[in-house]
Amino acid sequence: MNKQLRKAVIAGNWKMNKTPSQTTALVEEMKPLVKDAGCDVVICVPYVDLQAALAATKGSNIKVGAENCHWEKSGAYTGEISTEMLTELGVEYVVIGHSERRTYFGETDVTVQKRVRAALDAGLTVILCVGETLEQREQGITFEVVGLQTKVALGGVSKEELSRVIIAYEPVWAIGTGRTATAEQANEVNHYIRTVIAGLYDSAAADAFVVQYGGSMNAKNAAELLAQPDVDGGLIGGASLKAADFAEIVKAASK
Ligand code: 13P
Repeated sequence: MNKQLRKAVIAGNWKMNKTPSQTTALVEEMKPLVKDAGCDVVICVPYVDLQAALAATKGSNIKVGAENCHWEKSGAYTGEISTEMLTELGVEYVVIGHSERRTYFGETDVTVQKRVRAALDAGLTVILCVGETLEQREQGITFEVVGLQTKVALGGVSKEELSRVIIAYEPVWAIGTGRTATAEQANEVNHYIRTVIAGLYDSAAADAFVVQYGGSMNAKNAAELLAQPDVDGGLIGGASLKAADFAEIVKAASK
């Protein structure tokens, strides 16, 4: 399968960090460091930081994403945010199905699928997160878990729409733990996800499909992970909150 067909995407997932004013400051620090990137650069930030991020990134090569969205267009869903609220601001990306949403907020494969549908309908690009827990890895069911998460989430997604979907393989045991998957482990699952895409669609769709790795990716280990044939970028938590580290990862993906 041909990596040259795919442009790497490095996305920061800021999680519940940074206020609006801190967002402006961090983006201003990042902009000059990533301006010559040879990959796509995205920052996914808390809802209340979106306007600050959009204002600060205007005219730059940094794109802005949200960390979630609801599947209904509007209604009695206290505390939720619709896709139209995001697109009206100018948001282009949205993270869906992050393991922290699945673990702490009752997200299921079915609610993930509904959110993916709504995001695609609104014209957003989806960063869909999948990944196994440590227990599942030790049970030897990583492929089954990741395959099921992928298939359910993509239910009803057409081949044309697939160009607006990225999958981030994020092993739960590697998130925020400092314990990164080895380059071989990351590539093995990323490759498996690509075979699932080939099965659901076709090999041309799979060849063009971006599969990121996420989970303790940092300035030191990024180059090795990103050199793998099936690792087309990264979804970065902790290291995306430090401009120099994030820029280093962007540089590694630009080679
Ligand atoms: P860390 O890079 O902090 O491990 O987080 C990864 C992640 O969850 C990105 O979505």
